[in-house]
Amino acid sequence: MDHFELRQGSLHCEEVPLAAIADAVGTPVYVYSSATMLRHADVLRAALEPLPDPLIAYAVKANPNAAVIATLAGAGLGADVVSGGEYRRARAAGVAAEKIVFSGVGKTAEEMTLALEGGLFQFNLESLAEAEMLSEVATRLGRTAPVAFRINPDVLAGTHAKISTGAADNKFGVPIADAPAAYARAAALPGLEVQGVAVHIGSQLTDLAPLEQAFFKVGALIAELRAAGHTIRAADLGGGLGIPYDPSAPPPPSPEAYGAMIRRVAGGWDARLLLEPGRLIVGNAGVLLTRVIRVKPGARHPFLVVDAAMNDLMRPALYDAWHAIDAVSPRGGRETVNVVGPVCETGDTFATARDMDRTQPGDLVVFRTAGAYAAAMSSTYNSRPLTPEVLVDGPRWAVVRERVDIERLIAGDSIPDWLPRPPCNTGPSR
Ligand code: LLP
Repeated sequence: MDHFELRQGSLHCEEVPLAAIADAVGTPVYVYSSATMLRHADVLRAALEPLPDPLIAYAVKANPNAAVIATLAGAGLGADVVSGGEYRRARAAGVAAEKIVFSGVGKTAEEMTLALEGGLFQFNLESLAEAEMLSEVATRLGRTAPVAFRINPDVLAGTHAKISTGAADNKFGVPIADAPAAYARAAALPGLEVQGVAVHIGSQLTDLAPLEQAFFKVGALIAELRAAGHTIRAADLGGGLGIPYDPSAPPPPSPEAYGAMIRRVAGGWDARLLLEPGRLIVGNAGVLLTRVIRVKPGARHPFLVVDAAMNDLMRPALYDAWHAIDAVSPRGGRETVNVVGPVCETGDTFATARDMDRTQPGDLVVFRTAGAYAAAMSSTYNSRPLTPEVLVDGPRWAVVRERVDIERLIAGDSIPDWLPRPPCNTGPSR
């Protein structure tokens, strides 16, 4: 559920009319609901009860805005980070060091140093070579790095191929068959303290069965590792639970069902459980608010050209993702249209033959479920300004990322001195 509702014919985020935000900030703009994020965090926490002290480490990659992280940190969530940048964002937004998990297949020595000096709950290592590098870095700094290995359980997640991570030929994790040897080697390396096991098999999973299968394998591995003398205090079950995008499709498993499965499978492991949810927390907490520029006739259906494009919301172009598209002030009536952005690629198509609210040029529409992997993956392709973000909290709202306009983009480049200087400035000609 979310907090985007029609009130007196106009879509609101909590108590704020989206039209008021569009008037003040312009479009396109991302709008996030604090109440929705907090509710999702609460629902997940409740679903895990009565597990003792699980650590919900929000996957920062889903939405790294400082205000989003600060909202979730205030609710007691930790952070799952995959880069030095995410580590610094999490700390800057108030996440306690002991609630940070550092994941990712390509951590550099600089990133390891940053997290070792700043503190963290654990590194999720993805290879023996990484363990060796971390051992060297930690030893050099005179520190001990708490570590888990992310294991690759060779389970098919049943989601889009580009976001499946737990199959044997994916780049992620240590093959489960190699895990005992990897733990033995890591335990012998100086500067490392083995404390856990981690797994993450993919994102937008709409079936609990592959997760359960992966968790069973983790449970068996924990028993084997303990029998070999390792201390395993923590089990990180990753993220990945899917959320509803298309209201007409069968809903993914509820957080309650997910929590019940985790309690059943992992509740007896005698290890602190960690989760790394991203989409589940923020996905439905955001919309991309955009304006219809014009309607252009098409061979089959008219093209609704909106002022957001694939650079703002890449998911349809990258994963054929489906986002609901609704008018902010429905005029009544429906129409079948292709919804496209202004970017010069056919891939800049948000929806084909979509039955949606009838609109006219100038109308506002929203792409729903755009809180996760949306602004986070945006770019300035086609020299389009970087879209701003707004956070709503009840009747209050604030711009939490300014629009990065074209002046700032131009100012970020430089022309080397062997090239001719531009004859005049880049401003509008008079
Ligand atoms: N933990 C790890 C190690 C991950 O790689 C991810 C996501 C998560 C947790 C969080 O997964 P979630 O709970 O959000 O499913 N850009 C894609 C999704 C990429 C997910 C990458 N890893 C999309 O827009 O669908």
